[in-house]
Amino acid sequence: MAEKNFKRTLVTAALPYANGPVHIGHLAGVYVPADIYVRYLRLKKRPVLFIGGSDEHGVPVTIRARKEGITVQDVVDRYHNLIKDSFEKFGISFDIYSRTTSQIHHKFAADYFRKLYDDGKLIEQTSEQFYDEETHEFLTDRNIRGECPKCHSLGAYGDQCEKCGSALSPDELINPYNAINGNPLTKKSTTHWYLPLDKDQQWLEHWILDEHKEWRPNVYGQCKSWLDGGLKPRAVTRDLDWGIPVPVEGAEGKVLYVWFDAPIGYISNTKELCDAHPELGTWQTWWQDPESRLIHFIGKDNIVFHCIVFPAMLHAHGDYNLPDNVPSNEFLNLEGDKISTSRNWAVWLNEYLEDMPDKQDVLRYVLTANAPETKDNDFTWKDYQARNNNELVAIFGNFVNRAMKLTEKYFDGKVPALGELTDYDKQTLEDFKNVKTNVEELLETFKFRDAQKEAMELARIGNKYLAETEPWKLAKTDMNRVGTILNLSLQISANLAIAFEPFLPFSAAKLRNMLGMTDFEWDKLGRIDLLAAGHQLGESVLLFEKIEDEVIQGQLDRLDRIKKENEKQALLEAEKNWRPAPVADEVPFDQFAGLDIRTATVLEVKPVKKSDKLLQFTLDDGTDQPRTILSGIAQSYPDPQVLVGKQIAFVANFAPKVMRGIASNGMILSAENFDGTLHVVTLEDKVKNGSKIC
Ligand code: 2FM
Ligand code: ZN
Repeated sequence: MAEKNFKRTLVTAALPYANGPVHIGHLAGVYVPADIYVRYLRLKKRPVLFIGGSDEHGVPVTIRARKEGITVQDVVDRYHNLIKDSFEKFGISFDIYSRTTSQIHHKFAADYFRKLYDDGKLIEQTSEQFYDEETHEFLTDRNIRGECPKCHSLGAYGDQCEKCGSALSPDELINPYNAINGNPLTKKSTTHWYLPLDKDQQWLEHWILDEHKEWRPNVYGQCKSWLDGGLKPRAVTRDLDWGIPVPVEGAEGKVLYVWFDAPIGYISNTKELCDAHPELGTWQTWWQDPESRLIHFIGKDNIVFHCIVFPAMLHAHGDYNLPDNVPSNEFLNLEGDKISTSRNWAVWLNEYLEDMPDKQDVLRYVLTANAPETKDNDFTWKDYQARNNNELVAIFGNFVNRAMKLTEKYFDGKVPALGELTDYDKQTLEDFKNVKTNVEELLETFKFRDAQKEAMELARIGNKYLAETEPWKLAKTDMNRVGTILNLSLQISANLAIAFEPFLPFSAAKLRNMLGMTDFEWDKLGRIDLLAAGHQLGESVLLFEKIEDEVIQGQLDRLDRIKKENEKQALLEAEKNWRPAPVADEVPFDQFAGLDIRTATVLEVKPVKKSDKLLQFTLDDGTDQPRTILSGIAQSYPDPQVLVGKQIAFVANFAPKVMRGIASNGMILSAENFDGTLHVVTLEDKVKNGSKIC
């Protein structure tokens, strides 16, 4: 394993935007895996620093401020504190959790930019950008909306159409407008500084594609497709009034692009930490000494910035190490739908902590068991309940609890002596001998899901051992044997307390406390002398508790309410954005006159069997014969009887068509509303059935 050559490891976890609370997707994608890795390295006694912080610049925080009607500073203060608190409560063991609005960071990022500028590593370019004449501001992609050029839905964003999913640039939008105030936009020229990534193409290709084939396939693949597409210069400044001012004369009103300053936050936060704790060494040692290793934990939407843009920035500066690995996860969905902050479709960590007090480890366990390491995965509350009840409670907790309780009962809570081992004991020891190597190998290669599964093997082995040796049945006849079985069971429990420290830190600490273990380190895993005979155990408590159906139903009901609220909001939005379609091409009168449109009264309406769309109408069209017409409007009329007796308009000379074995003679006219519902055109003034409409 390459990493053995490094003296120390610097681990970073993506800096979340301080524009809202953090949710399970953040935890599963970035923070739990990073924390598992760091805790493991610490247990291995390897020097490591874990750097985090809030990303407090950029458009997302400004949008939130406008939405809530408060200042941007208030937004970042509020969410920085909330996020920091959630991370602490979930045991994410950062060595520092700072923020990009800190003075240290502002100065560090501005100096970094200035060095690149002075060294001629940036290029200056003037281009035409969208501008709001009334508010005198240039708009960022996300703040520009308009008609999608692909699906023609209204309200598409300057970077993406949420209706059809197309990636867009603001220039492609039809009739672009300011998303905040609806103002129409003009173009105005503005100057920015760019990182000429095209010049980095060659070394980046070699560094990633040849030298980092071990990166996860999703990371490697995304990098390859960016590189294959050819890198282009990227602007590293923006016209915005929130951020770090560009430290160049004549650049008033411009700030560093958030994706320029945020990754520098990893460095400035390391500096802040090391300045306050000189015993950790200098920040330069961690970032620049070739014997230091850099690992970035991120989500998949951050890959290009961490694998291409930030390395290019580090390279342009010189002196810095490049990341050795960038373990990026895919996305976690919630009950089958994409997690979304704006649609409130998430399990927020602060709310989870209120609803499920002291169950941080349960969530950590489930998120790791289901980690989206190779593909998007789904979080469901039923799976959460099943994993808690069937794995944590029934296997892990049950085993430890039985070992503790039996020792209390038969040996006054003192570790009994180990007697002679039977073949079955030896076989059991053999079974868990490899767990240490296996978990270790999986952790070193960032396979956290499999690593946790392998650690759980210890509990499965222990549970099986107790179930098969049945010490409670031997208590009357062979206390020596009971002692041996319980000694081994307690040793396995002590192994669990070490192996699970990275995954379930709260439960592992509880377990160590129960076992009275003061001394624990990774390299002791696999041993059966962790607890000496005669050692007094602490008080036993339940490690995990069963979660009842009502609790899960409560969470599902909450999501149901959110779904309904979102549907309501989507309708309001659709109504607000609705505009009449553009008028179709002109037609000559003869063409219109060719359509024979008439009136008729609805005599009967009924659903068509085996069709959820069609309604069968029987009409009085003024002739002796009733007319049958099928119309695909069933979904808009849950109670079609409301149409009986109504006088409607229909096309009489439509070519007859047979559907579901019924002949349809004509077409009923309906209007389509903004929400897609169809409404039959009816007459207010009664006329003779069969009258021509012209
Ligand atoms: O995607 C995000 O939430 C960004 N705020 C991540 C930044 S990571 C790093 F560059 F700071
Ligand atoms: Zn579209």
